[in-house]
Amino acid sequence: MKRFAPAKINLSLEVLGKRPDGFHDLQSLFCPISLVDELHFERADRFGFSCSDPSIPTDETNLVAKAANSFGNSVLPNVRVHLEKRIPHSAGLGGGSSDAATTLLALNELALEPKSFAELCETAALLGSDVPFFLHRSAAWCEGRGERVTPVKLESPFAVLLFKPPFGVPTPWAYKNLAGSRELPGISYSPQQTVAGALVNHLERPVFEKYVLLALVKKWLLGQPETLGALMSGSGSTMFALARTQSDAEALRERILEEFGADNWTWVGSTMSSDGW
Ligand code: C5P
Repeated sequence: MKRFAPAKINLSLEVLGKRPDGFHDLQSLFCPISLVDELHFERADRFGFSCSDPSIPTDETNLVAKAANSFGNSVLPNVRVHLEKRIPHSAGLGGGSSDAATTLLALNELALEPKSFAELCETAALLGSDVPFFLHRSAAWCEGRGERVTPVKLESPFAVLLFKPPFGVPTPWAYKNLAGSRELPGISYSPQQTVAGALVNHLERPVFEKYVLLALVKKWLLGQPETLGALMSGSGSTMFALARTQSDAEALRERILEEFGADNWTWVGSTMSSDGW
């Protein structure tokens, strides 16, 4: 059984305040994109997990293993899970959370006593703030820690360019440094009115202060004729640009690699609507 786990970009991410539990209240528009990890599920003698990317731990700390553990032996026949990893990690693209959600959905299909969707959402929220979003297979407004999900239908798909430098940004670091962070002069942080809504990300402030390259990438993208809007996704380090067509996004990709160097990771694809899976 093969299932796809899509990445996401945040078309907006507003941090409303810090909560007593240490997390932050958010209001964020999450949008799935056509960049996917591939997961294979196969019945086996005992649970097993492997991954195409050797830098990813495959022990019980992996969210896929944690998702599988949340079922318990009595409800789940043993399965072997193999993950073909294409979504970069520490990138703000939700790859690990999406793998976990896809594992929950797939194992629920195999379970002897399947959980209800509401139960799956509860389990997902325990695995991570972004995991419930990925159960919904749709663009969505996410509130609370991120676990309160309201699916929305977006306009027709947009072409997307992703750009990620070789370094990643740890999500806890970005949230921890939000308070007291300052805007860099000459960089635009204000909402950009686009066909996909008002693009804004409050986490750009702390992240750009430390990783100035990302601010320069945003400024450069915003100066290109093909760019409809440009923003950091989640807590970074991926920057994205929306474009009218795939060929516009491809032209941007070619020039951004010339400008910032071919050792950076790039990808061109599109946003996905709820009926595009
Ligand atoms: O929920 P998740 O494990 O993905 O969150 C990773 C970290 O990001 C948390 O430990 C917390 O530091 C930060 N976070 C936050 N507020 C959120 C989501 C995440 O402070 N709404």
